Amino acid sequence: MAGAAAAGPVVVVGSCMTDLVSLTARLPKPGETIHGHEFFIGFGGKGANQCVQAARLGAKTSMICKVGKDSFGNDYIENFKRNGISTEFVHQTKDASTGAASILVDNEGQNVIVIVAGANMLLNFEDLKKATGIISKAKVMICQLEIAPITSLEALKMARASGVKTLFNPAPAIADLDPQFYTLSDVFCCNETETEILTGLQVGSPTDAGKAGAVLLERGCKVVIITMGAEGCVLVSEEDPVPKHIPTEKVVKPVDTTGAGDSFVGALAFYLAHHPDLSVEEMVRRSNFIASVSVRSSGTQSSYPFKKDLPGNLF
Ligand code: RIB
Repeated sequence: MAGAAAAGPVVVVGSCMTDLVSLTARLPKPGETIHGHEFFIGFGGKGANQCVQAARLGAKTSMICKVGKDSFGNDYIENFKRNGISTEFVHQTKDASTGAASILVDNEGQNVIVIVAGANMLLNFEDLKKATGIISKAKVMICQLEIAPITSLEALKMARASGVKTLFNPAPAIADLDPQFYTLSDVFCCNETETEILTGLQVGSPTDAGKAGAVLLERGCKVVIITMGAEGCVLVSEEDPVPKHIPTEKVVKPVDTTGAGDSFVGALAFYLAHHPDLSVEEMVRRSNFIASVSVRSSGTQSSYPFKKDLPGNLF
C-alpha cells in the first residue's frame, strides 16, 4: 500500500512501540534465566496496532502520535506509510526515544509485556490542537492508555465535541481511572484483566463479565465490550443492558495471542466507520473472527489480516 496524506474516517490517538519479542517454551519465574528459541523485532504499540488493523480492512486512517527522532522512529513512520496510514500528525521528538515493548511469548501463545513508553508520553495538547481539522471530520476516534492519560482524555473530549464516535480501550488499565473516561466512551472495550483492575471484580466466565460490564455501564459508557480471548466477548449496552455472550472461532493451536485485542479494536473501528448500519452484535462477531485470524501467526501487526485474505461476507 502507498502512503496516504488525506484524513480518514478513523483517527487513532495513541501509541507506537518497537516490539522486541522472544519466543520461549514457557515464561520464566522471577529471578530465573531461561533459553528462548527465537527473537524478532516488530512494529507494535496498542494505538498503532489498532490503526494498522483498521487500515488493512480498508479504512482510511490517520495516526496522531509521537515517536523519537531515532532509527526506530524513522522506521515506524515508513511502516505507517506502507500500510496507507496518514502520517501528517506523527510527530518526532529528540527528547525521548521511540517507545519499546519487551515481549515474551510461550509455547501456548500466551505473553507477558513490559513497555517503556518514551516519546509516547510526550504527545501533548498542542499536538492534538494541530490535528483539530481531521479529528472533527472523523467518524470514529480510538484512544488507549499507553500515552499520558490526560492527552487521551483531551482527545476524547475533542471527538465528543464534534460528534465523533469514541472507542476507548483502557489498556494498560489504571485502577483509579478518571471517571470522565467512562462518560466520554461511546464504546468502552477492555479485556478480562483490565476489567478486574477497573472494577475489582473477578472475571473468570462470561457470566462474571456480564456483571462487571453492568458496573462499567453504570459509570456512563454507552456500550461495554469485554473481550475474553478464546471465549469471545461479552456485550452490554445502554439500549440492551442484558449481557450477551458472543463466542468466537475455536483456534486449536494459537501461535501468538499478542495484539489480538488490538486487532479486535481496529476491526471494530472499521465497522463503526464503514458499516454503521450493522448491529453492534454483528460488528463484534465479525471483529472476533478477524482477531482469531491474528492468533494463528506470530507477532502483532505481522499477524494482522488484509481485506483480500478474509471471507467476502465480512464486508
Ligand atoms: O497489545 C499488544 C501491544 O502491547 C504490543 O504490540 C506492545 O507494543 C504493547 O503495546
